[in-house]
Amino acid sequence: MVWTRDRELTEILDGNVAAFERYRIPGTSVPLVGAQQMIVDTIERMERVSLGHTAVADAILDLAASRAGARRPVRVLEVAAGNGWLTANMAGRAVRRGLEVDLTATDINIDLVDSMRERFEIDGVRASVHPADVSNLSEMGDGEVHVAVMSMCLHHLPPEIITASMRELHRVSAGGMVIHDLRRSFVSLFGLPPLAMVVAPLHGQGFALHDTAVSVRRAYTPGELEGLLNEAGLGASYHVGRLPTRHPERWVTATVWPR
Ligand SMILES: C[S@@+](CC[C@H](N)C(=O)[O-])C[C@H]1O[C@@H](n2cnc3c(N)ncnc32)[C@H](O)[C@@H]1O
Repeated sequence: MVWTRDRELTEILDGNVAAFERYRIPGTSVPLVGAQQMIVDTIERMERVSLGHTAVADAILDLAASRAGARRPVRVLEVAAGNGWLTANMAGRAVRRGLEVDLTATDINIDLVDSMRERFEIDGVRASVHPADVSNLSEMGDGEVHVAVMSMCLHHLPPEIITASMRELHRVSAGGMVIHDLRRSFVSLFGLPPLAMVVAPLHGQGFALHDTAVSVRRAYTPGELEGLLNEAGLGASYHVGRLPTRHPERWVTATVWPR
């Protein structure tokens, strides 16, 4: 059972200052960018406690390796990467497999890009980090990567930006686009915000609760995603379904995957 997507809501991650002030614990001096960092770090914690971080990374690496065939390195672009947990995990899993990879992580939020770059330097993650808007990847050539992945960002984007973004992800990966996002459903709505609150960092519970609940309410259903793919002219190249893994994350997400 689903309900209508809420187009009006915005998140603290989008710069919703009113929500940030409402959920900031009085007396704490955390800035908006600090709250945004707590929110993306909370997504990573949710993935880590459920072991989704390796399941998603492995699924993307499997696809990228099969699309690359004998070519090396296997090239993967992650857009809207947030704190970079997925790219960091793909880097680690690739080393374990002995797979030569060339990874790039981007995001539109300059503060998150800076902290992601710092994190990669500290952790020794070999990946390039750049600012980029997913709807305009004009600095990249056609087919430059084997897979272009966007995780947990689609619900931030209005439909008209989504079709432009789909075309860009499809173009730079020559058909290797993966979009992985929350599914608008009651399972997601009742399951995810409490989990976010439990794992959120100190002083970040309210921010995480707000953005997770709003994320689900503005998320797309698989049927809506199929409609958007068709509008972008890509319906024949991709299908919408569950992440190809046994991990339970597949029950609260919807995934666009090459046919
Ligand atoms: C909910 S976070 C998800 C971050 C990360 N992908 C993950 O799975 O944890 C959404 C991210 O999308 C980014 N974002 C929003 N609009 C964007 C756009 N037009 N282009 C690139 N990134 C965008 C935000 O800055 C934020 O880091």
